[in-house]
Amino acid sequence: MGFRCGQERVRQGGNMTAAQIQEDIKARLSNIENMLPASMPRVSEDMIRDSLMSDEFLDFIKINMMPVEQLMTFYQCAIMQVETKFNILNEQFSLSLDRNPIQSIKSRVKSYDSIMKKIRRKKIGLSIEDIEDKMNDIAGVRVICSYVDDIYLLADCLLSQDDVILVERKDYIKDPKPSGYRSLHLIIKVPIYLQNEKKEVKVEVQLRTIAMDFWASLEHSLHYKRCQADGAECGEAEELAGELIECAKESARLDAKMQEIRDRIAELSGES
Ligand code: GTP
Ligand code: MG
Repeated sequence: MGFRCGQERVRQGGNMTAAQIQEDIKARLSNIENMLPASMPRVSEDMIRDSLMSDEFLDFIKINMMPVEQLMTFYQCAIMQVETKFNILNEQFSLSLDRNPIQSIKSRVKSYDSIMKKIRRKKIGLSIEDIEDKMNDIAGVRVICSYVDDIYLLADCLLSQDDVILVERKDYIKDPKPSGYRSLHLIIKVPIYLQNEKKEVKVEVQLRTIAMDFWASLEHSLHYKRCQADGAECGEAEELAGELIECAKESARLDAKMQEIRDRIAELSGES
């Protein structure tokens, strides 16, 4: 997942300009042309210029892309909504707990490329309604905490808010994935208020500790290597996956120990 960080607000990939779309079409046509036998007529540049780069065709693309771009804007707004909720909780707890439970927040709207790949992989229908209904992770917010307790505290606070609807909860902290992956995943719906309507938008929230996040990014890079590896490299990748499972267990022990020490420090402070 390519998440942007905190204030950085970099919108991920996908938003092609009309000029980029033209170039893309041109490149694709040129590829097709190269595949044709030499005897077949070539697509002339004039035809590309007059038809595929015509105002009518560009308007056609623009009009058809509009609902998709609008949908992406809704997801971006929903992310802002959820980020604000977490920032408010963080501020509030910084007073009552005298520390910030949230270390950082990273968010992203899924790129068009990843959306297309998921549509293909999960055989999702091509309508906007199908995409909204079947894809839960177009908007993603990742909340990084120092301690495991804070993850559950923040999740409970978020879910108790009356405009947040829980769609799905997966606790990979209590039940880690076979890879060793740990995080708390919530699929929620939050309202965004538009000019004349209220719209419920789905957001995938991943809550994890710094240690879980560190582990996940390392494992993620191995995942891609594993997909590409063959022969001897494949054996090496499998070995590394085994070592990562051990690392995940170590990091879970570290999380538990750090939390225990923090609680004991809190008790000491309470006594003094
Ligand atoms: P997706 O189709 O990938 O969205 O799977 P899903 O709908 O079953 O969701 P799941 O809760 O399994 O995981 C969704 C997200 O969690 C992924 O996109 C990753 O960001 C993260 N994730 C899940 N499993 C792993 C894992 O084994 N390793 C790492 N590094 N990340 C994982
Ligand atoms: Mg996903």
